[in-house]
This record gives sequence, C-alpha cells and structure tokens, in this order.
Amino acid sequence: MCDKRMVVGTWIIAFYLLGTVAGEEVCYPRLGCFSNDPPWSGIPGRLLTGLPEPPEEMNISFSLYTRETGNNSQVISAINSSTIQNSHFSSRRRTSFIIHGFSSTGKKGWVVEMCLLLLEVENMNCIAVDWKEGAKGTYVCAVNNIRVIGAEVAYFIKTLQKLFRYSPREIHLIGHSLGAHTAGEAGRRVRGIRRISGLDPAGPYFEGTPPEVRLDPTDANFVDVIHSNAAHFPATGFGMYNTTGHLDFYPNGGTQMPGCNDLLLEMKRSDFEALIADTTIFGSCHHSRSHEYYFKSILYPTGFVGYPCETDEDFKSGVCFPCPKQGCPMMGHYADRFPYKLKRVNQKYFLNTAADPPFASWRQKVFIKLSGVKKMRGDINLIFHDTEGNTKEYEVASGVLSDDKVYTKYLDVEIDPQKTKKVEFLWNKTIFTLLWARMGAETVNIIHGEDGRWSTFCGHGTVTYGVPQLLTPC
Ligand SMILES: *[C@@H]1O[C@H](CO)[C@@H](O)[C@H](O)[C@H]1NC(C)=O
Ligand SMILES: *[C@@H]1O[C@H](CO)[C@@H](O)[C@H](O)[C@H]1NC(C)=O
Ligand SMILES: *[C@@H]1O[C@H](CO)[C@@H](O)[C@H](O)[C@H]1NC(C)=O
Ligand SMILES: *[C@@H]1O[C@H](CO)[C@@H](O)[C@H](O)[C@H]1NC(C)=O
Ligand SMILES: *[C@@H]1O[C@H](CO)[C@@H](O)[C@H](O)[C@H]1NC(C)=O
Repeated sequence: MCDKRMVVGTWIIAFYLLGTVAGEEVCYPRLGCFSNDPPWSGIPGRLLTGLPEPPEEMNISFSLYTRETGNNSQVISAINSSTIQNSHFSSRRRTSFIIHGFSSTGKKGWVVEMCLLLLEVENMNCIAVDWKEGAKGTYVCAVNNIRVIGAEVAYFIKTLQKLFRYSPREIHLIGHSLGAHTAGEAGRRVRGIRRISGLDPAGPYFEGTPPEVRLDPTDANFVDVIHSNAAHFPATGFGMYNTTGHLDFYPNGGTQMPGCNDLLLEMKRSDFEALIADTTIFGSCHHSRSHEYYFKSILYPTGFVGYPCETDEDFKSGVCFPCPKQGCPMMGHYADRFPYKLKRVNQKYFLNTAADPPFASWRQKVFIKLSGVKKMRGDINLIFHDTEGNTKEYEVASGVLSDDKVYTKYLDVEIDPQKTKKVEFLWNKTIFTLLWARMGAETVNIIHGEDGRWSTFCGHGTVTYGVPQLLTPC
C-alpha cells in the first residue's frame, strides 16, 4: 500500500492544493484516526508525507526479555492480554521498551543486545519492539508509519495500566532514529512516562517541525538525547541538530564521529535531500554510534561525562572545562542521575569519545614542565597504564622544546583515572637531534575535568629518547 506511487500522489496534492482542501484521514480500531493535515504534512520541511499503513500490515511485535527468559524472549501482545499475564512480565519491576529505526529490526542485533545488557545491571522487564515490516519501504512511508507504531506502544502501556495498575513512572522508552520520534509519539499519548532516551533522533521531516510531530521534552518526565549524526548546515546527516530534550548531548560535536569514514557527509545537500526522500537505505556509522555509545555507557558510566557548553568550538577551546560546581551529567544510561537534569529544557552538553570501542574517555588538562633541555627539537608524550594492562599514549607537544616553558594540552584519555596504575613521560627526537641528548619531566600537572581535581607528578632526572620516565606523585 505504501509504495512510491502513493507518496508521489500525496506530493502532487500537497503541491497544488496546499492549504485549500482538507487532508485525508485513516482510522484504525483501538488506535484512532490519523490525518495528513498540518502539521503532519504540508508544512515547510514536511511536504511529502502521507498516511500510515494499517497496524496489521506492519506486523509489530513486542518481545519480552527478563532475567528468567534470558535470550529466549516471549512474544507478548496487548490485543491478547493473557499473553502478558502468562509471561515473565512482572509489575513489580521497571520496564524499558527499545525501539529501532528505519530499515532495521527489533528481533536481533543492537535492540536485543541492549535488552540483554540492561538485564545484567537491573532486574527489569525489557521489551524489544519490532516494526520491521513498517520500516522497510521508503523513508517517507516509515516516517508516516511511526505514528501508528507510537500509538501501538501507547496502547501497550495503557493495557499494562489496566491489567496491573502499572504506572507510566516505571517506564523508560529508548528509541533510535525514527524510533526516537516513535517514543515521542507514545509519550504524547500517555502522559507521565518516566524517561525517553532519544538516540540520534531522525532529522529529515522532523527538524524544525512543531513539538507534536517529533520527540520533545513534554513527551516524558525526563528526555535525554544523543546526537551523533546531526545535520548541521552545510554538513549532511540523518540526525537532528536542534535540541529536543531536557539534556542534549553532542559527542564529538554531534555530526561526525571519529572512527567512521562514511562518504555521505560529503554529499551536496540537494543530492542528499533527494536521496532521503526516495531512499530505502538509511543509516551510517555516525548515526549508529548513538546507540553504541548508550550501550557502552552502561558498562563505563563515568567515561561519557558531558560538559555544559554553547558550541563545540567553545568546548574544544577549553572554555567549558572543567565541570562547574554542580557537576556534569553522564551521557547515556546514567544521564538520569544528574541532579539538575530538570532545571530547564534544551540543555546542551559536549564531550569527545574515543574512535574505537568502548569509546569511553576522561577529559584532562595536562601541563608539562621539562628539565634538562635548553632548546631541542622533538615531541613529548604521556603514557597512561591501567590496572588491567591497557596502555594509551598521547602527544602533548612537538617542535622546539625548552625547560623555560610549560606545555599544556587537553587530552581525552582512554584510561579510567580510577584505574590508573602509572603515568610515564616519553620523548622522541627528530633526525636532527643529537643521539645522546636527554631530557625529563620536572613536573606534570593534571586537572581532571569531571571534578576539577588536580594531580601533580614529578619525574626524576632525565632520560634518553624512547625510554619512558616513571612519574610519581609529588
Ligand atoms: C508476521 O508476524 C507473524 C507472527 O509474529 C509471523 O508468523 C509472520 O511470519 C510475520 N510476517 C512477516 C511478513 O514477517
Ligand atoms: C541470542 O540468540 C540469538 C539467536 O537465537 C543469537 O544469534 C545470539 O547470539 C544470542 N545472544 C546471546 C547474547 O546469547
Ligand atoms: C491468547 O493467548 C493465549 C496464550 O497466552 C492463547 O492460548 C490464546 O489462544 C490466545 N487467544 C487469542 C484469541 O488469540
Ligand atoms: C530549535 O529549537 C528551539 C527551541 O525548541 C526553537 O525555538 C527553534 O526554532 C528551533 N530551531 C530550528 C531550526 O528548528
Ligand atoms: C620517533 O621519531 C621517529 C622519527 O621522527 C619515528 O620514526 C619513530 O616512530 C618515533 N618513535 C616513537 C616511539 O614515537
């Protein structure tokens, strides 16, 4: 039903008759009616949309994972509520719904892995929502379909309320891409949901639209958002750039993630928009990083601290370092631990992540004062070791080096300060440096971004190039 012809037909109507005729409407039992009146279509940035497909055709399913089921999930349905009563669903536990995005699935992959990991840290009900059949046509069809998916999730929650007097305050919706707006639609229909986490909410047909169309802070008591592929002009991307929650996190600036090398970002914007309207492939490494970061944040809670800042440029230049007195929120699963999370909506936070899993990093400002060198070419580095045998090396400065200067740099260290075993200083020569040259670190000061704490280390004497010098607290 939702093929290209219908979309083109709708587009023609929208194009010629915009504002002059009433829209079309479909009604489905249990869920109510859906019209394509503004703001659902026919508004700037959203001219192309039509109507959602019937729920039966999308084959939406809810798979329950609990500590009892493990990997053998139970399919439960609000239409036949005995499936819920006969399942391992427990009304004494909290419930998370995980909702995938365009051309994805809830039957395997990250959605299932997220449920299994959440169960390791909390005894909960985790429900993997699958709407693959509604998500596999063109992008425009899927954009329409999420209105029905959101209504189905809301219907499911209302069924839990009826069956168990289950409170929406026990519910957390986690959605990626179109799944983030699906969660928003569910939250618009059931008030008082505890939390929605939007993982790179889809941008095309949502950016700049009114709140009822997209995820927004009124959809739950607390809304946190990770932007990983934000379409920030002139860059192209699948995600939204604008804030859309209480806490909006922009890792690595929010648009382009390190370790990804997709070419889509280099497309001309007009080509990109044409691609989006027609596409049946949608996704990129950058876009997926949002759910990968969320996943890793469950395992490395302190490794994703977000710094309050207006822009990524300010963040990079150090204006927003270290965290203010009231502290910083953690991006991802533990964002809800931030005491000031509800102080206002649209709070922006910036951080850098590592390029590779587990992506966690701890931002530090380091200062190095050298000893034993008047003027010499080379580079100076710090090596961090943790108690598990991991080692990371960072260059702090290069070029002409001298002991009458302090070298300083912001580092995003991939070693947890709580697990750091030792820190070493290492220098390297250039081809022009004398073979027998020596230098050392007199003092190394480190400011930890998360709490502003200082650590001071001393080297002792000098070392030759390529030989690490142990730094000890002083
Ligand atoms: C739709 O769902 C039913 C029950 O979950 C399943 O048996 C059927 O194969 C599904 N159809 C498609 C096209 O996936
Ligand atoms: C869960 O089951 C699926 C399919 O049965 C399998 O592919 C996956 O590896 C399993 N995951 C875990 C964590 O056991
Ligand atoms: C409802 O689900 C139960 C299993 O819990 C099944 O035995 C029953 O046939 C289902 N009823 C309908 C009407 O599908
Ligand atoms: C961004 O969001 C703010 C606050 O919700 C809103 O005032 C502004 O118009 C939005 N800008 C765009 C381009 O959507
Ligand atoms: C030291 O510098 C040389 C030349 O610049 C380079 O080839 C070498 O890899 C460097 N060694 C280390 C440990 O960085």
